[in-house]
Amino acid sequence: MSSTPSRVHPAWLPPEALAPLTSGTAAVVGDGPCLDTARRELAGARPAPAREADVVVATGDACADDLGLAELPAPPPRGAVTVRTGGRLVVVGHDGAAALRGLYAAARTAARARLAGRSTPDGVSIDAPEQPRRMLDHWDNMEVHPVMGQVERGYAGGSLFFEAGRVRDDLARVHEYARLLASIGIDAVAVNNVNVHEREAHLLTDDLADVARLADVFRAYGMVTYLSVSFGSPRLLGHLATNDPLDEDVRAWWRQATDRVYATIPDFGGYVVKADSEGQPGPFAYGRTHADGANLLAEALRPHGGTVVWRAFVYDHRQDWRDRSTDRARAAHDHFAPLDGRFAENVVLQVKHGPMDFQVREPVSPVIAAMPRTRVAVELQVTQEYTGQQRHVAYLAPAWREYLGFRLDGEHTVAQLAAGETSPDRPQPAGGLAAVSNVGTDAFWTGHPLAQANLYAFGRLAWDSSLTAEEILDEWVALTFAGADDAALTRIAAALHAMMDDSLARYEAYTAPLGIGFMVTPGVHYGPSVEGYEYSPWGTYHFADRDGIGVDRTVATGTGYTGQYPSPWRETYESLETCPDELLLFFHHVPYTHVLHSGSTVVQHVYDSRADAVEQLDDVEGAWASLADLVGTAVPEAYDARVRERLAEQRRSAVEWRDQLRTYFHRASGIPDATGRAIY
Ligand code: GCU
Repeated sequence: MSSTPSRVHPAWLPPEALAPLTSGTAAVVGDGPCLDTARRELAGARPAPAREADVVVATGDACADDLGLAELPAPPPRGAVTVRTGGRLVVVGHDGAAALRGLYAAARTAARARLAGRSTPDGVSIDAPEQPRRMLDHWDNMEVHPVMGQVERGYAGGSLFFEAGRVRDDLARVHEYARLLASIGIDAVAVNNVNVHEREAHLLTDDLADVARLADVFRAYGMVTYLSVSFGSPRLLGHLATNDPLDEDVRAWWRQATDRVYATIPDFGGYVVKADSEGQPGPFAYGRTHADGANLLAEALRPHGGTVVWRAFVYDHRQDWRDRSTDRARAAHDHFAPLDGRFAENVVLQVKHGPMDFQVREPVSPVIAAMPRTRVAVELQVTQEYTGQQRHVAYLAPAWREYLGFRLDGEHTVAQLAAGETSPDRPQPAGGLAAVSNVGTDAFWTGHPLAQANLYAFGRLAWDSSLTAEEILDEWVALTFAGADDAALTRIAAALHAMMDDSLARYEAYTAPLGIGFMVTPGVHYGPSVEGYEYSPWGTYHFADRDGIGVDRTVATGTGYTGQYPSPWRETYESLETCPDELLLFFHHVPYTHVLHSGSTVVQHVYDSRADAVEQLDDVEGAWASLADLVGTAVPEAYDARVRERLAEQRRSAVEWRDQLRTYFHRASGIPDATGRAIY
């Protein structure tokens, strides 16, 4: 099923995107896999000595004189110095990976300048990533799962890495993919699903030579490779009697297994672990804590410099819906906050951005600020599980920016807490940013071609969270359509801004309202099913009755979740007066007639925004249609066909959401829509 299509869209790195760097002479100074990659990227240029070449790529050990420069500032850790002078461009990376990333950054700068109609001035720029770890997690399975397909929550075909139960022989597309990731600054990838099924558990032992082939590809683009491993490996793979993290044989098994990994892949990144979560084995079975569990693997990885990425997504997925006292939103904080300070130094605790599960609107997870002595990484979901599954246009950068800029402890932003850039009195160690990838064997990589922008935006925001969503979209457009002439490029950018800038807000407006979340078809999580999860064990309820809707998570009368926030948020969310409208139903159970800060009632808001959002799709479709004369030139025919197919499905699905939600709320409340628009 996952055969490689013969012609693949180049995403944001078509040959034209690098053309500004290869039109003259070039030199690459130094050795190593990333510099070799830089050499290949510049192969179209004429070779010249580094002192005079138009484009030079080097690492920090090169001296200014050899590069034809009067002086050269030292490149920062993980970053690069770029010198533009007299028509020359010199990129000097801290190491080979940083130099390669700097080369791609120069292509990006050129593309953006072109779109803006200006030239890049001479000068020195010093650029380093805000997040020290920028990781992509792939939920890829080796085998095709009967329900999930090959990539769990994947909406873009099969796995790029695996085919027919093993690592692909032909890794040409993995090279292309790694190149895309390097260009947005990613430095780590986990290649297999966090739900580790039996076959994939063996990657850790039996398939190491094949994993090494993947690691070779990623290394050439400046990335280290991680594996998701099963906490149950000692029993499953080693046939031990237990997985108890304090058992001596278990500890020895992990040490030996890890030694073998590093004997095969010396720069291996480490392990990603989903334990005691949604059926995955974990330390709870042995009466041990998650610190015991994580430290077991940390001990095995430490001698090799490896890292354990331990996920905080731990909750009871077999809850009784009758039980109103258990609150899934509380679970990660309840389990993990008490363990602060008990994790080994090479453990990173990876926390989903919200307390539930990647809903279109959630408050920021309080866990991110609750563990100042722990390396906390924030996990985002690029794959659009709950945001339209790469059939709807939903540009996620505006939401990610909001999360990353949120001052969770009243002082530091989420980006700062993850980056470990906190004040001297709160020296939180760095965890970084991670995200679940959205790619597959699809010819456009991401199903919806415009979903490429989400992958692009994740890397860029991990690099610099002060970039605006609009700036990032400009970059992506300018690189993706680098082959278009100036006039066409300007029109494409305008059309895509019209389609994408507010696309997530629009998606939110026709789906579940005011932070309530879910209301999706169970299992597949696509399309509306208002009561789909209401009587299920998953802990995702809305409690709608004839009078009102919402989850009371207050300290005063509810589950107490608001109490997990530091001030001022605990007070802000606790009070109906100050709780923001968009999160109202996440924190409070209110009557349908409750008046929002916007002045509308809850029920009228549901009626209006669902209907308005669907009406806006006329403009979205119109914006794309306005490019019709460019199809076949600046916009490939197949690209246009795919976008139009997706827009039609988006409309069909959005209408279904609108009609089901408006009708449900009308039937539940008995309150008519003041605008008189159709209800069924
Ligand atoms: C979601 C998703 C699962 C996934 C889980 C996770 O619940 O639906 O498919 O396994 O997140 O993050 O582990």
